[in-house]
Amino acid sequence: MNAPNEMPLRFEPAAARREWGDAPTSRAPGWVYTDPEVYREELERFFYRGHWAYVGLECEVPGPGDFKRTSIGERSVILVRGKDGALNVVENRCAHRGVAFCRERRGTVKDFTCPYHQWNYDLEGKLVGLPFRRGVKRRTEAGVEVQGGMPEDFKLEDHGLTRLKVAARGGAVFASFDAEVEPLEDYLGPAILPWFDRCFDGRPLTLLGINRQRIPANWKLMQENIKDPYHPGLLHTWFVTFGLWRADQTSRMVMDAQHRHAAMISTRNAGGGGDVTQGVTSFRDQMSLQDDRVLDVVPEAWWNGPSVVMQTIFPSLIVQQQVNSLSTRQIIPAGPGAFDFVWTHFGFADDDAAMTRRRLRQANLFGPAGYVSADDGEVIEFVQRAFAANDGARTLSELDGREAKDTPHMVTETLIRGMYGYWRGVMGV
Ligand SMILES: [Fe+2]
Repeated sequence: MNAPNEMPLRFEPAAARREWGDAPTSRAPGWVYTDPEVYREELERFFYRGHWAYVGLECEVPGPGDFKRTSIGERSVILVRGKDGALNVVENRCAHRGVAFCRERRGTVKDFTCPYHQWNYDLEGKLVGLPFRRGVKRRTEAGVEVQGGMPEDFKLEDHGLTRLKVAARGGAVFASFDAEVEPLEDYLGPAILPWFDRCFDGRPLTLLGINRQRIPANWKLMQENIKDPYHPGLLHTWFVTFGLWRADQTSRMVMDAQHRHAAMISTRNAGGGGDVTQGVTSFRDQMSLQDDRVLDVVPEAWWNGPSVVMQTIFPSLIVQQQVNSLSTRQIIPAGPGAFDFVWTHFGFADDDAAMTRRRLRQANLFGPAGYVSADDGEVIEFVQRAFAANDGARTLSELDGREAKDTPHMVTETLIRGMYGYWRGVMGV
């Protein structure tokens, strides 16, 4: 029995029971997905400090004053192109009372005005003016009297919006609250940079459409899903049946030096039966498409071979090239048990009309209701529910061993182990 001043274990603060247990990276305790204190710490350490977060594509804000509102972690930010054409990212938080003054998702503005007290900011986030700064003049019998106003030493330049550090590469835009963050190129690292540049090679991009959804699962489960080449040929009927992703494809798994980012690189094969479809319940030998334009795949020169490259840029971005369908998928945490997932489908400005139609049709595989991606949203919700009910249980990621290393095949969970090695290092767990 506990002494009166001893609380039972389950009432101790979360920090006191952050014991990882054995298996350094291949078994994650359930509380990594559910603990609110761990989650708050993740926001600080991964989203607000030391990391770059994806905020959008340059083609979303083509002209001066064009903006989009988005979030880094739980903090609202605005990507806005300045009058000089430069990309600015400012926090959507009025310096006066903290109001998120920008409510529209996107648009074009000359400046920003907070609705609460009409404080006005330019496109670089500088405070331009505010009502009654010099008080209100009032005529009295004694003459003109000034009432109120800001103190003499109030300076506009001391009260601008929080400006983030910004880096753009090949049309993709990243921002960081951390002025000391390393250059984006170093952040991506030499192993991942060529795969990033393969897609974002400087050709102007075109915006094809946006989907957004809230998935009731921890944000890391989406990173894990795209670091998991084990499941696509098992879970996804569309992938295994039509040969878009199967364990018998030529594949490799690549990580950056710190194992936080990764690329799953693979080349489509002919599909059909064979060993890897034996007993796979999602494989439908008899399934065929009434309208086969959905899979009207045309290889493109810039692929240089692989028909699919899925990149996880930790913590906030997935870059998808799955045959002719391209998207960025942004991860925006919303508490330990949910995240917003924003899909931005894009193409290249030099695509002909047929290629644009093709990219749009193939985009039906992805997004919230995608023929493939709807499966992922659902299964990671199941994972979250299981650990919400029992956060002392653990995951198991031991396919192909317990170490994290690049592999010349996809029969592995190496990328998930790599991510948890990095996660533990940064979190000090
Ligand atoms: Fe999947």
